[in-house]
Amino acid sequence: MLVLKSEEIYQGNLILVNRNYPVRYRIGEQDLRPVFENQPEICMERESAQMLQKLLKKLSAVEVNRDKAKRRNDRNNGHEYGNVNVVEKNPEIVGVSGYRTREEQVEIFEDSLKENGREFTEKYVAFPDHSEHQTGLAIDLAENREEIDFICPEFPCEGICQRFREKMAGFGFVERYLKEKQNITGIGAEPWHFRYVGAPHAQLMQQKNMALEEYVEWLKQFQLWQNPLSLYLPKKEIKIGYVRAQGEVTKIDGLDAWMGGGQKVKMEVSGNNVDGFILTCTRGELE
Ligand code: DAL
Ligand code: ZN
Repeated sequence: MLVLKSEEIYQGNLILVNRNYPVRYRIGEQDLRPVFENQPEICMERESAQMLQKLLKKLSAVEVNRDKAKRRNDRNNGHEYGNVNVVEKNPEIVGVSGYRTREEQVEIFEDSLKENGREFTEKYVAFPDHSEHQTGLAIDLAENREEIDFICPEFPCEGICQRFREKMAGFGFVERYLKEKQNITGIGAEPWHFRYVGAPHAQLMQQKNMALEEYVEWLKQFQLWQNPLSLYLPKKEIKIGYVRAQGEVTKIDGLDAWMGGGQKVKMEVSGNNVDGFILTCTRGELE
């Protein structure tokens, strides 16, 4: 039997944090990890950091291959390479801001109020305790340039940054604040702010073009027992079910049968930070 305490509503990859739903769980230092070797101050929650590293590694591998292909291609076209500056130096992605404590969010908010005024600040900086950065599940990224703006870094829709966007959902990341969702998220367009929700949720959100606010609401129809969502992918089967919290303790019995038994089964549970839990069961090829 799975026993979920009411405070677990506020933990997990799918927690919704915004103006209406504050951060209620404080992540411990032991669960934070640096993402970049040369930027030890930029941390994320353990799994998010690991998945982001995998994604960035994959991208740099792609970059190297693209360079090789370009060199081959140019050589075939009769252009010989010397060894200096012929291949464009690849732009890199760097971290700008990862996990923040409450105190850091207060400082950023107050500094921005002074420097940029209230309208700008409320559009681009979440109120303290209402920032995804306090969960460890969010990160601001920038294209590596000489000057990087701390609040609104550049993460353009081209080059390596766009390739990051094309691959991110497979690694569990979404672009959290889209321009067309401003009225729903309450935050202006932030093409640099990425949120880890885990796969397959990031892919579903992207396919359905849903902000996390919409997605958390949409998932509620897939009640664990009555109407779970089943996804049949080439090498795995995924079942997603929502359970409304039942007071202090929510007990879920019969999960083995729900999961279908067998060896290669992974069960993940996340609170939604609103009123319940989302269970995600994966069978088949597990990462
Ligand atoms: N910039 C985002 C909204 C934050 O401060 O959490
Ligand atoms: Zn951010």
